[in-house]
This record gives sequence, structure tokens and C-alpha cells, in this order.
Amino acid sequence: MNIARLIETQLPSQYLKLIKLAGNLASQIGQNPYLVGGVVRDMLLGRPNLDLDIVVEGDAVGLAERLGQSVNGKVVVHSRFGTASVKSDSISLDIVTARSEKYPRPGALPAVKPGSIEDDLFRRDFTINAIAARIDARRFGDVVDPYRGKRDLEGKLIRTLHDKSFIDDPTRIWRAVRYEQRLEFRLEEEAERLLRRDVVMMDRVSGDRIRHEIERILREERPEKSFSRAEELGALRQLDPALPGNSWLAGRFGMVREAVVDLRSLNRVYLALLVWKLDEESLDRFMQRLRFGRETARTLREIAELKRVLPVLDQRHFAPGQTYELLEPFTIQSVTAAMFAVESVTVRNRLRAFLFEYRRARPQLDGDDLRRMGIPAGPDLGLLLRELKKARLDGRVSTREDEVELVRGWFNRSRHER
Ligand code: CTP
Repeated sequence: MNIARLIETQLPSQYLKLIKLAGNLASQIGQNPYLVGGVVRDMLLGRPNLDLDIVVEGDAVGLAERLGQSVNGKVVVHSRFGTASVKSDSISLDIVTARSEKYPRPGALPAVKPGSIEDDLFRRDFTINAIAARIDARRFGDVVDPYRGKRDLEGKLIRTLHDKSFIDDPTRIWRAVRYEQRLEFRLEEEAERLLRRDVVMMDRVSGDRIRHEIERILREERPEKSFSRAEELGALRQLDPALPGNSWLAGRFGMVREAVVDLRSLNRVYLALLVWKLDEESLDRFMQRLRFGRETARTLREIAELKRVLPVLDQRHFAPGQTYELLEPFTIQSVTAAMFAVESVTVRNRLRAFLFEYRRARPQLDGDDLRRMGIPAGPDLGLLLRELKKARLDGRVSTREDEVELVRGWFNRSRHER
């Protein structure tokens, strides 16, 4: 089989030029070059993908250096792994030496040694990701598919290459779910049996690697589908027995997506909803396990605190200024998550008012006005501005004059007290 036409029609011209150049440079030094992995899978499916992964039966680093020189690009070498990346303008391309891998124990990094393209494809997660296409001029587009990945693409199946696959690398459990839901494929029967058998192996993998896969799921179009499926397969429970992957989560994720446009915020709100039902002990455990970055960790830690204070917002009488004061210390992401998570309509409306009204309200006087009125710059000035904002939210002032009067009153009183 040959997919030259597919490669030529699906890749933008600069990408095509770059891989053809890489291919020809490799063959000049007697090495066989291939395009592999996700990009080949997606080409065969007609899905856009510009992640160029190249494998050479030979010296990847040497090839990367030659390619870098000839396009005047930037080359980054990871000599420990025998891999390199070349960046030319805005296009980047990864080159690795074909290799075989052996896993010393579940979840550990594999021991690698140079091998053939068949070895290299055999070390991969699923048959649909183990297809390669030659990129040297003489055989451009020739497909190497020893594990019948193309048959599985047609049958819409996620199939492992051997029965130790999930044991070697338990992050594949999450990858299986992600591909299955993204592509609307199905785990092949034996692969599903192996996954269920090996799901406990996930405990052996570092938190960083699991977090990385969870974050990739969160970047999918509908991450809730993967969490529901992971629940069904026992993977979510393995991560933490209290994590929900059910319709509660699906409904909330859908609403959040409509409301939050910034992608980094969206991921943090998703995570906050994912952990919403965890008690404090489980939340701590989950966070220690997955070691989130600083901002995400802050949002998640706040969830426990928010759940403690939210009942206050259920009172009949609670002024907007008080709501503002209560919620102001929290991140927007944790308050947004709370807004979608709480059952009480009263609380939800107050959270919404905080996010869309109170937070944005401004008094008419600003810091400069206050300084002109004789209030020295410093923390007091900040406090006064907040008090003014609360007074405005509660309707105690409406005009600029009202605000001036209020400030004068405070000023005189504090002078009096001194
Ligand atoms: N791979 C693997 N096992 C892993 C990670 C990666 O076998 N645990 C292989 C797969 O062949 C995969 C390739 O390395 O296709 C590239 O990895 P990655 O970029 O993670 O996968 P993509 O298929 O490109 O994923 P996506 O489409 O989600 O970007």
C-alpha cells in the first residue's frame, strides 16, 4: 500500500517540503526514514494533525543536525534518548532512532536499544498508532503496517500489540479511553479484558505521568465522555474511589464549556468539578498523587474551603456587599466551578451575581480621588476603596457626591478616634 497522495494532499506545503527534505537527507546517508504515529493514523482517517514524528533506522541525532543545517533551523538534542527535534520557522518535527524497548518493571521507563522499524512499531501502544510510511524519494508513501493497524482503523478498534501492554505502561489505560472516545472507536474485546485485568497497575505509575494523561483528556472536545468510560472500566475508581464519572459530571462539563472560553481556565474548572464531591481527605490524597501546577493546585485547594463557606450564601438575607467580601479571596475558577456544582438556586444566583456583576462593579471615586481628598497611599486606601465598592453594591451610595460624603464621614471619624 502507498499513501503518497494522501500525504501530499493532507499536509500543508511547508510541512511536506520539510519531511521530504528529511527523507532525502536520511537516504543520502543510507538510513531508512519513516513518518509514524498519530499523524499517519490521522491521515488515514482524514483528520487534521500536524505533529510530525519521524523514525529513522539509523542515527536520529545526526539526521536532525543535517536537517537543521540545511533549513537553518534550531536543533534540540536529547542524547540520552537518542531523539532530537528540529524547528524551522513555526514548524517542528521530532526525529527518533528506531528502537526496541524492554520494561524492567510496570510503569518504569523502558530500557531501549536500536532496532528495526518493526521493533519500533512493536513498542507502541495500539495498532492504530503503529503504522509507518516511508518518506525517502524512492519509496515515498510506502506503508509499513506489520500489526494490521489499518484493519483496526477500518474496524474502529483500539487493540494492544501484546498482552503485557498495559502492564509495561499503565498510562496506556488513559490513552485507550481517550482515543476510543475521541475517534468513536471501541476497545477490542481482548484489549478491554487486559485493561480491566491490569487497571490496578496504574498505582505503580508516577503521578506526573498520570496527570499528563488526565490533562490531555481535559483538552479533548468532550472530556466527560472519557471520564464516564474510565469509570465504567474501573480506571477512575483506581485513581480515587470517590471520583465521579457519571451524568452529574457530564451535565456540568457541558455547561462549563458554554460559559468559559479561556482554555486554561476551562481545564481548571473541569478539574475543580471533577474533585467537587471528594471529601477533604480524598482531595488531599488526589492532589498529592497528581502534583498539579501551582495555579491549579490553588483552585483545587480552595474547593474544600468554598464548600465550607457556601452554606452562608443560602440565607434569605445576605447583602451583595457581604457576598462580595466572602467570595473575593477565591479564584474565579473555583467560584465558577461552585456555580455549576451547587444544588441551591439561591446560592447559585449569588455566585453568578458575584462573577458577572459584583466583581466588575467599580465605585465612581478611584485611588487618585481619595488621595486628593487627603487619604495617604497605603493599605487603608485599598480598604476604603473596597468599602466604597460594598456600599455601592448594597445601594448605600449611588452618586459621586454620596461617595465623597461617605469617605469624608470615615475620614473625620478616624481622625476623631486618633
Ligand atoms: N506512544 C506509545 N505509548 C505511549 C505514548 C506514546 O506507544 N505511552 C506512541 C504512539 O505510537 C503514539 C506516538 O508514540 O502515536 C506519539 O505519542 P503522542 O504524541 O502521545 O500520541 P499521538 O498519537 O500523537 O496523540 P494525539 O493524537 O493525542 O496527539
